[in-house]
Amino acid sequence: SRRTRLIAGNWKMNNGIGEAAVLASRLGELVGTAPEGVEVLVCPPTIDLSVVADKIEGTDIRLGAQNCYWEKSGAYTGETAPGMIRGVGALYCIIGHSERREYFGETDADEMRKARALIDAGITPVFCCGESESVRESGSQVAFVCDQIKAGLAGIELARADQLVVAYEPIWAIGTGKTATAADAQEVCGAIRKTLAELFGEQIAEGVRVLYGGSAKPGNIAEFLAERDVDGALVGGASLVAEDFAAMVARA
Ligand code: G3H
Repeated sequence: SRRTRLIAGNWKMNNGIGEAAVLASRLGELVGTAPEGVEVLVCPPTIDLSVVADKIEGTDIRLGAQNCYWEKSGAYTGETAPGMIRGVGALYCIIGHSERREYFGETDADEMRKARALIDAGITPVFCCGESESVRESGSQVAFVCDQIKAGLAGIELARADQLVVAYEPIWAIGTGKTATAADAQEVCGAIRKTLAELFGEQIAEGVRVLYGGSAKPGNIAEFLAERDVDGALVGGASLVAEDFAAMVARA
């Protein structure tokens, strides 16, 4: 059976509290009632979570964070615990985004700790993976991404693995306007699902949503979603414009 689509907006480090309130309200008007079989998610900066939660209350739009720490509380200046994120009403949290791995030195072991801590707190991790341009040029993207999946997710308890979402984002396609082709996305997303089946069994792997990310926009989303193993999109730039994001939801 067709998996519920997931169209997720990652605002990254954009929108202060005033702009976040305006964008969230506008999204409430445009996509507050999600189409059948489609789930809509917005992931604003941590500082905006409360105001966005307030603005989307009573709509179908779900809330997610962009990062977390794995400890429950304590002396970790500047960090946010999964329980705190859950406390403002977020049900999802992005982890392992290539920007976190590249600029903040996060490792697969960090992502595994975050994934476990989030599931413990009742939050669905959106686990990001993806290869660099040089890995793509060498033709080893499938092996590279499948290794990231194994290294980041193998420690998830089987009974809870159905609570995962995976986002495949080829780094060379992020914010560059260069998109992977739908066939490129399917090749890797299909391999991700096979790897999930090796780790957690067929049945769980069939239920996990695998998203594509990297210059996804209204004009190309339908091609990606037509692929067997692509269940949605993780949208950066286009999620900052309410009309564009709504158009993507409408085409899902
Ligand atoms: O998390 C979102 C991705 O990094 C994609 O960003 O749509 O601006 O290319 P983009």
